[in-house]
Order: sequence, then structure tokens, then C-alpha cells
Amino acid sequence: FNINVQFYILSYLVGGIPFGLLLAKLFTGQDIREAGSGSIGATNVLRVLKESNPKLAKKLAIATVILDALKGIALLLIGKFVGLSVETLWAIAIFAVIGHCYSPYLKFEGGKGVATGAGVLFIMLPIETAIAFVTWFIVGKVLKISSLSSLLALVALIVASFIIHPELEGIKTHAPIFIIAFLIVYKHIPNIIRLFQGKESKVI
Ligand code: G3P
Repeated sequence: FNINVQFYILSYLVGGIPFGLLLAKLFTGQDIREAGSGSIGATNVLRVLKESNPKLAKKLAIATVILDALKGIALLLIGKFVGLSVETLWAIAIFAVIGHCYSPYLKFEGGKGVATGAGVLFIMLPIETAIAFVTWFIVGKVLKISSLSSLLALVALIVASFIIHPELEGIKTHAPIFIIAFLIVYKHIPNIIRLFQGKESKVI
């Protein structure tokens, strides 16, 4: 295997580490896959654990976001340090999100890719990701529906990317963004259905 392929495999394996599941299990013994949305991300950590211990739930949810984001960030920073090309870095970013969404340690089940996606996109497209973050924060504060803020943040990111980089095409920016966006939206299909039915649960 050449170095790129080794990075892709590593990225998938690191991206697959289910921090939310592990932290919740470690601190409360609960399997968050069996409650709430069944997801392994920070939102479900907060949703499931806040009943019994709101303070701990908040701390573990924040830790989950940070660790899930760091999975991709760490890989990309190492990749940048060893001088990998932009195309290879994008592939590493995508493999980290795939790992999170289809974890090799959870029979290819997993999370919805938001925190890990945000982490890798922050390294690849910091300005667009900052715009997405502001969108996520404002929508989250106002509506308190995690999935909707994630999805609208994704729309903001795509629009920002087209405005900031109208000259770029294909693999340089837009193709990898659409692959990551597709993964995130695909994983949110149950949320999208609940949103249209008016049944999506609020977080707080
Ligand atoms: O970050 C994931 C979020 O967008 C939705 O999570 O648990 O409400 O399906 P959940």
C-alpha cells in the first residue's frame, strides 16, 4: 500500500471510534443506541442522559462533540504536516466521516457525521465552516432542534463555498463537500421525515 491508502484506512478506523457511545457507557453504563434517536452522537448523549443527570449529560455531550471533531482534525493535521496533496486530504476527510457514520466497530452502524464533518471541514474550509457554525448556533438557540440546525448549517456551508470559491470546480472544493453533505443528509433521513411530520424532538 502506498502512504495515501494507509492514511485512508487509518482515517476510516479512527473516524469509526464511537466516542459518544463509549463515554456514555463508561460514565453511566447506558447504551445510547437503545434510546432517543439511537444515534451515537452528542445530541443523543445529551437527550438520553439528561433525564438522570443533566450536568453530566451536558459535559459528556460537549466532550463527544470535541472528540468526534478531533478524529478528523488530527488526521488532517498529520496529513498536512507530511505534505499530502489537497486531493488526498479531502479523501482523508471523507473517510473519517464515513468511519463515523459506518463504524467498523459497530457492525457498520454509527453516527450522523455532523461533528466529525464539522471538524474536517474546519481544517479544509475554515471560513465556510465558521459561517456554518454561526448558522448552526443561531438556529439551535432559536428552534432547539439539533437535526434542523445541522441541516441548515450544511446548506449555509454549501452556499458560502459557492460564493467564496465561484471559480473552483470539481475535486478542488465542491465535489468533496457534496460527498460529505450527502453522507450527512442520508444519515438524517429519519430526522427529515420527523421534521416534516412535526415530530422531531427538541434537545433542551
Ligand atoms: O448531530 C446529529 C444531529 O443532527 C441529529 O441527532 O440524535 O437528533 O438524530 P439526533
